Amino acid sequence: SSGKMGFALAGACAEAGAQVELICGPVHMDPPDRVTVHPVTSATEMCEQALVLCAGADVFIGAAAVADYRPESASAEKIKKADGTPLILTLVENPDIIACVAQSSSRPSMVVGFAAETASLMDHAREKRQRKGLDMIIANDVSDPDTTFGSEQNAVHLITETQEHSLPLASKRVIAEQIVAAVAASLDR
Ligand code: C5P
Repeated sequence: SSGKMGFALAGACAEAGAQVELICGPVHMDPPDRVTVHPVTSATEMCEQALVLCAGADVFIGAAAVADYRPESASAEKIKKADGTPLILTLVENPDIIACVAQSSSRPSMVVGFAAETASLMDHAREKRQRKGLDMIIANDVSDPDTTFGSEQNAVHLITETQEHSLPLASKRVIAEQIVAAVAASLDR
């Protein structure tokens, strides 16, 4: 995972006594204490690491905002201009990491994802949970400046097959602790 919510979750998991493997892209933040960081620089690498590390894990939380596409190829050399001819960049789809984890033969008991939406939040999140094969999805309204990327705070809705409940506006750290408590309660069931 990457960014503030991912780091807050990793910290809260460690605080709750879990052994935490944090796979993250380039970020300019210090990771929380007592987590093992696995740095990656592409979605493909993140997917490979996730599949390796999810074997033997009880919980997988996917909080990374993964790019939907990547360039099909990268040039080792400087690309020269060609007399006004447009440069066509072909993009190919990245793997859906959390869906791969949820389908893997070494699937953790709990696979938890995020749904950042700007409209029809709950419907889109419910649909995403089912389609990706997740046990829990955390729905996050990113049309609200209080709860979007870059904010210190968040407000979310936890959605499972049988239950939905809301966590009102609080610091990302407090939200993370509440999510981890809900995940731990589901694991014990
Ligand atoms: O499809 P969308 O990007 O809205 O789904 C969000 C959830 O899926 C998040 O948990 C995100 O980390 C995960 N995801 C992923 N791999 C992708 C895209 C999203 O694991 N390529």
